This record gives sequence, C-alpha cells and structure tokens, in this order.
Amino acid sequence: MAVRRDLHRHPELGRQERRTTAVLADHLIAAGLAPKVLAGGTGLVCDIGAEGPLVALRADIDALPLQDEKDVAYRSTVDGVCHACGHDVHTTVVLGAGLALAQRDLPGRVRLVFQHAEEQMPGGALDVLAEGHLEGVSAIFGLHCDPSLEVGRIGLSSGPITAAADAVEVRLTGPGGHTSRPHNTVDLVHVLATVATGLPDALSRLVDPRAGLCLVWGRISAGNARNAIPREGVLAGTLRVLDKNAWQQAPELVERLVNGLVAPYGARAVVSYERGVPPVVNDPGATLLLGAAVTRALGPSALVPTVQSLGGEDFAWYLDHVPGAMARLGVRPPGSERSMDLHQPTFDVDEGALQVGVDVLVAAALAAMGAA
Ligand code: NI
Repeated sequence: MAVRRDLHRHPELGRQERRTTAVLADHLIAAGLAPKVLAGGTGLVCDIGAEGPLVALRADIDALPLQDEKDVAYRSTVDGVCHACGHDVHTTVVLGAGLALAQRDLPGRVRLVFQHAEEQMPGGALDVLAEGHLEGVSAIFGLHCDPSLEVGRIGLSSGPITAAADAVEVRLTGPGGHTSRPHNTVDLVHVLATVATGLPDALSRLVDPRAGLCLVWGRISAGNARNAIPREGVLAGTLRVLDKNAWQQAPELVERLVNGLVAPYGARAVVSYERGVPPVVNDPGATLLLGAAVTRALGPSALVPTVQSLGGEDFAWYLDHVPGAMARLGVRPPGSERSMDLHQPTFDVDEGALQVGVDVLVAAALAAMGAA
C-alpha cells in the first residue's frame, strides 16, 4: 500500500517515468533481484528463477496528463499529472507478486515487465517487443483496474475485451473560387461534406456489422468567407473497431473509399491514417488457466465474465506474439453507489484490490509454470 501511495503521489507521463523506474529498481534489488532498465531509460524487466518455462507478468507504469482532483493525503504532487487509470495499482500488484514469487522455489521462471508509456501512441509495448523481452516467454498475464467491479472480483473473458482505436485525417484541396460558379472549380465544402457523411455510410455497408466499426469525426474545417470556395478542407476523427480482421483491413478501405468519393468532383485527397492499437484478444487456453487461478486464489464467486470495451490497451501487441490474457481487477469499494470511471480526475481505488491482484498473479504464474 505504501508503494502504491508513493507512486500515486509522484505520477510521471510516458517516457518520463524515471523516478518510478528507480523506485521499482530499488525494491527489486533490495530483494536480491537484478532488474534491467529498458533502452529508453524508463521501464524495466526483471527475471525470477533459474530455469524452466518462462512466464511474463506485465504492468504499465505511466500516468495521464490530468489534474488530480481528489482530496486525499496521497493525491498527486505533480501539477497536471495523475494516475487516473490505475497504473500505480498495476505496478504495485506486479511488484508485490514478483517479491512473493522470489521467496519461493519456482518450477520455472517469471519475467516481470514494468512497461512505460502505455497511454501514448505508439505505446511502450512496442519498445519492449523490439528489445526482445518477450522472446522465449510461454505466456503473459496482466490486470487492469475496473471501477465497475467491486473489490474482490475479477472480470475475465476469452476473445477480444478491448477495441482498436485509430486516428483518421482527410485533407482535401482544390483550386478555390467564387460560390456563384461551383461548376468552374471544385466545390470543396460540398466534397468535404460528401466525404464526412459518405465515408461512414460506405464503411457501414462494406464491413461486417458484427465487427462494430465506427468512424466518428471530431473536427471539420474549411473556408472563411460566405461567398468564396476554399482551397483546402480537413476532416479528423477516430475509427474504432471491435474485430481484429476488420482493423487490419481498415486503412486500405478508408483510402480507397475517400478516393472514390472525391473522384467525380476532381478534388485532391490526402488520407493520413495513424494506427492505434489492435484489440486485446485473450487466448482461450490462457484465459482458462487464469480463470482457474482466480478461483483457486479467491474462491469461485470472485470470477465474473467481462464485456468488450471500446477502450484501447497496448497489452494487445504482446498477444500478437505470445498467448496470454488480461483480466479486469475490481477496485470499487463494497456497497459504494458512487459512479467512478477510468481517466476521471477523481478516480481512486479500494486498496484491498492490491492484495487481490497479487494473489491472482502469483496463482496464475505458478499455474503457467506447471506448479498446479
Ligand atoms: Ni490503463
């Protein structure tokens, strides 16, 4: 609990988590372990055990650029930065599980992955993979705080549990002109509006509706004068999708459809498509193993199914390489009516969740190494 409160008091944004990395390294070294800091200077990995199957436990360590609006002794001391997504909890839980496992005779090895920059695009998971820290890992597990679940409960389902979220920008250009003579130029505002409505329309007919693909514009801008056709216009929005195959096909489809929509008018279109993360797709075998570990650690009533959210989580990249599962850790105080969500400036947890998380990850790691 002291570790979590210390991290909560000193949150750091992605790729700046130097103090957090040092605090974790100190705890691991004090336990006789040998953590390795990642190449970027923040985030670390630490192995426990000598030989046998290698299982990874992952935490994310970065905070969000939000003002902490809680009135508690451990509120953030950094202006405009706050652990409002519970990454301080994830970090403390993986550290606690690691220290507990380090005191046992293990039937295999455990790699603790304290990953930086989960909230950023591209996320820190890609750095961890590029540095080869998942090579030889047979399974990976992680937890994420869930304020909709009471403390003591763990939400878990096989298959996709988060969504993909990409950023799309469409920039149209034309020669500009007088609004009295659209036929002599490219009526850019009209074409922009055609793309704004036509692209989501076309996607809804060309992608399996079960994929839950949804393109929503957050910004549209063009022109200044009432009677002048502008030379440039921009649309910007997000494309979210529940299905991984549809996510893979989305950039090419968007490009093709935009070009098709503007072609009759002669506008020039440039599409910038920025990939976010794929959905977290829990492996069926790893999900079964993690579920059994939850039941063993906490009893059968602790385990509940979870739904697929439209949030993004870069744990997804690990599951492209290694089978694994992410579960949702209940953090809501028992009986609390107060609604609370991740990324709110008042987000907080019932700290009973820390021990629950440690127990679950220890049980999962032992089971994955073949101990149970
Ligand atoms: Ni998060």
